[in-house]
Amino acid sequence: MAEAEKILEKDHYGLADLKQRILEFIGVAKLSGSLRGSILCLVGPPGVGKTSIGKSIARALNRKFFRFSVGGIRDEAEIKGHRRTYIGAMPGKIIQALKVCQTMNPVIMLDEVDKIGSSYHGDPASALLEVLDPEQNSEFLDHYLDVRCNLSDILFIVTANMLDSIPEALVDRMEVMRLSGYIMEEKLEIAKRYLIPKNRKHMGLKATQVEFTKPALRQLINGYARESGVRTLENSIKKILRKLALEIVRQNEVVPTSKRSIKKEPAGSSYTITPEELPKYVGKPVFHSDRIYEETPVGICAGLAWTSMGGATLYVESIKIPSEKTEMKLTGQAGQVMKESSEIAWSYLHGAVHKYAPGHTFFEKSQVHIHIPEGATPKDGPSAGVTMVTSLISLLRNEPVMQDLCMTGELTLTGRVLPIGGVKEKIVAAKRSGLKVVIFPKDNLRDIEELSDEIKKGINIHFVEHYDEVFKIAFPDAELPAI
Ligand SMILES: Nc1ncnc2c1ncn2[C@@H]1O[C@H](COP(=O)(O)OP(=O)(O)OP(=O)(O)O)[C@@H](O)[C@H]1O
Ligand SMILES: [Mg+2]
Repeated sequence: MAEAEKILEKDHYGLADLKQRILEFIGVAKLSGSLRGSILCLVGPPGVGKTSIGKSIARALNRKFFRFSVGGIRDEAEIKGHRRTYIGAMPGKIIQALKVCQTMNPVIMLDEVDKIGSSYHGDPASALLEVLDPEQNSEFLDHYLDVRCNLSDILFIVTANMLDSIPEALVDRMEVMRLSGYIMEEKLEIAKRYLIPKNRKHMGLKATQVEFTKPALRQLINGYARESGVRTLENSIKKILRKLALEIVRQNEVVPTSKRSIKKEPAGSSYTITPEELPKYVGKPVFHSDRIYEETPVGICAGLAWTSMGGATLYVESIKIPSEKTEMKLTGQAGQVMKESSEIAWSYLHGAVHKYAPGHTFFEKSQVHIHIPEGATPKDGPSAGVTMVTSLISLLRNEPVMQDLCMTGELTLTGRVLPIGGVKEKIVAAKRSGLKVVIFPKDNLRDIEELSDEIKKGINIHFVEHYDEVFKIAFPDAELPAI
């Protein structure tokens, strides 16, 4: 146990739940003598360490590790093997894995299951079901082998970026663990303790030769590597180290007046990376701010989105244009669900104009255009419901919403505000954009209570059940007539 714990700690920072779960796993295996009936499914955005923690798990369990990507597999035979009558017939991936590992109990990682394909060659997802299901896999039949093979000693680890595209029956059989992405402080620690030492060693640099200052790392994370995972951060660090390595080698070459001086380290070969030096190595910052508006104008409201890349702030803009007919138009790469929530927002406000904008008529003789900028990123999901209504009310009342405000929540036709996903990522995104007041659905209270104080520091979170409460926060000077 102690050894396993050490390995897990050594390879990855944080991820306490996952490590705990793996240790429990090993504990049970020790007591019962076998590791049966569990399939771990790691779900999270790119670069949060799903693949690499799989390797550590195998090391911690002292087992062989085999990884293959099921993304793009279209043919059932890749998993279940071909009949030997076919030319070029081969056993399926699982049997190949056993062959490579030379053991019946390896850790097999099925990477990217959410990208599994399907075609007229059969449905590989159902074939996977047979492999993974502990009820069935002691009798797994590979077409090539043509004898039953017991797979129940294999520990399967499955990874995916999102659960939505994995067949329901498959999700059902797995134990899902979410890796939700890292905030600034965590990334800082990961960079300092793992990424820099690891890559420095790879490039043959000594610890005394390079040093990253804390502000430089902060600037690197904020300006260049803002995703949920740490892959871009790692790449930027590599880029800096590579350039330094080149510089150091060049310096060593200039002084070969006598052979002895090559060995001697020339002065100034120790580098300290400060924020001012970053552009020299990695170019201009890629990100400035998600914040488009310093002061929110009329008709515009900030919302919070969650994509497979992590959290982001998004604006909902609306304007009205004179027109014969009153109608609404939505643009900005919005998916089906988002289109529906705009219609719900529209109808909801239509029925409640007297309440939220007394004295105004509902967009008479005008076409209302709602737009969600940054059209390049497809967005979907119901959580922009409250943001859309707020944007429309602001337009109708001709009054901007409260400054530094953002919100998220699904809206129903009766004005109820329903819970949403990606709470941590959304709070992180709001903080990054400097939005200080955040509105969340009341049913998300529990998710937020689970977060550490570090994450919640500096923002004021409101919990609401009904849209009336959102209205009161967004337009603090307005009176809500009693109905
Ligand atoms: N908590 C952590 N501590 C230390 N290193 C980490 C941590 N999380 C991620 N890394 C590092 O980040 C890099 C990317 O991780 P990895 O390839 O496992 O991502 P992934 O989750 O599998 O992404 P994808 O979904 O794109 O496959 C690896 O080099 C890994 O070591
Ligand atoms: Mg991976």
